[in-house]
Amino acid sequence: MFNGENGWAKETSMKILVRLGELFGAERLIPIESAHIAGVSYKTLGDAPIEFLRILAERGGYVKVPTTLNPQSLDTEYLERKVPEKLRKNQKEILENFAKMGIARSLTCTPYYLGQPRIGSHVAWSESSAVVYANSVLNVHTNREGGPSSLAAAIIGKTPDHGIHREENRKPNACIKLATRLKNEMEYGAFGICVGKILQDEIPLIDGIQNASKDELKQFSAAVASDGMTNMFLMGDSTNAKSKTEITGEDIKETIESLLTASTSEPDLVFIGCPHCSSEEIQRIAAFAEGKKVHKGSELWVCTSRYVKDREKQCVKKIERSGGHVLDGVCTIVSWTEKLGIKCIMTNSAKTAHYAPTMNKATVILVSLQECLSSVYRG
Ligand code: F3S
Repeated sequence: MFNGENGWAKETSMKILVRLGELFGAERLIPIESAHIAGVSYKTLGDAPIEFLRILAERGGYVKVPTTLNPQSLDTEYLERKVPEKLRKNQKEILENFAKMGIARSLTCTPYYLGQPRIGSHVAWSESSAVVYANSVLNVHTNREGGPSSLAAAIIGKTPDHGIHREENRKPNACIKLATRLKNEMEYGAFGICVGKILQDEIPLIDGIQNASKDELKQFSAAVASDGMTNMFLMGDSTNAKSKTEITGEDIKETIESLLTASTSEPDLVFIGCPHCSSEEIQRIAAFAEGKKVHKGSELWVCTSRYVKDREKQCVKKIERSGGHVLDGVCTIVSWTEKLGIKCIMTNSAKTAHYAPTMNKATVILVSLQECLSSVYRG
């Protein structure tokens, strides 16, 4: 394959993987059970990669393992009607090229809801929030891949054996003591931003997380990866740790304040679903929305995968009846919110609060899910 005997697409993919392996001192490639590709939205990709994807697809690039895609820049119902034709056309071409390579339109940053990988299995994923969640919560092994390397791994069915694919590299080398009780998923996100800022690419042992739900750990995973290079964390007792960094309630409060960039309490958009909503989150939003109406002048986007949306049809109906929009396959951060005149976003996601000022040119109000709902359904 490396010498081109199996065609250009495999040769190119193999060369990407071998080069990467050499850079990180890998001695071999190991089989993977799945790949997940970030870099799907035309807004973040731009034009040059479209050409690469087109050639790869034309010259026989085809995935060897089940492969999922990150969210795109629009959904097929609500936002599709609102963005200019050229943007829609280019986004469509990106998805068509992936389809030619055997990759379905999963379009979600929570591929683990579509089918949970086997414990201890190796995968090649390139969505940072999913990478941290996979390694830490699901005990699935993946480095933080880039878009091209996860696509190359998907085509070859293998990835270089280095980093946290190797058991000896999955041990903690930093310690964080959480010295406060976190009240909700938003605070877990703020805690993630705090930890991400302190660490480089270490694996922290975190002491003090008590009875966190999977959705709270999802928020922590997304945030810790947005402000740092941490790809995995462990939870446990730090009594024997030589040194530890303590995070207090005051640290969490300061982090939340630093992420709050809006000078108004009236958002143009209330956005829930970064990372994409689980079934439980959709159910919770629907229970709150029942019998209420979205406040005039505001808008509610709930982002999730088509898979979860289809599973939660009754809840989706309740949210949409209340005036909210359940958008599948899209993410606010990589969508064209500026073109829709959205200048202020309220969210429960610390990751969104971290990126929206630069990616969406929007100010942010960071509050809990409960407060997001109370705000958008007030009156
Ligand atoms: Fe997912 Fe977009 Fe957030 S890809 S993790 S919803 S920034």
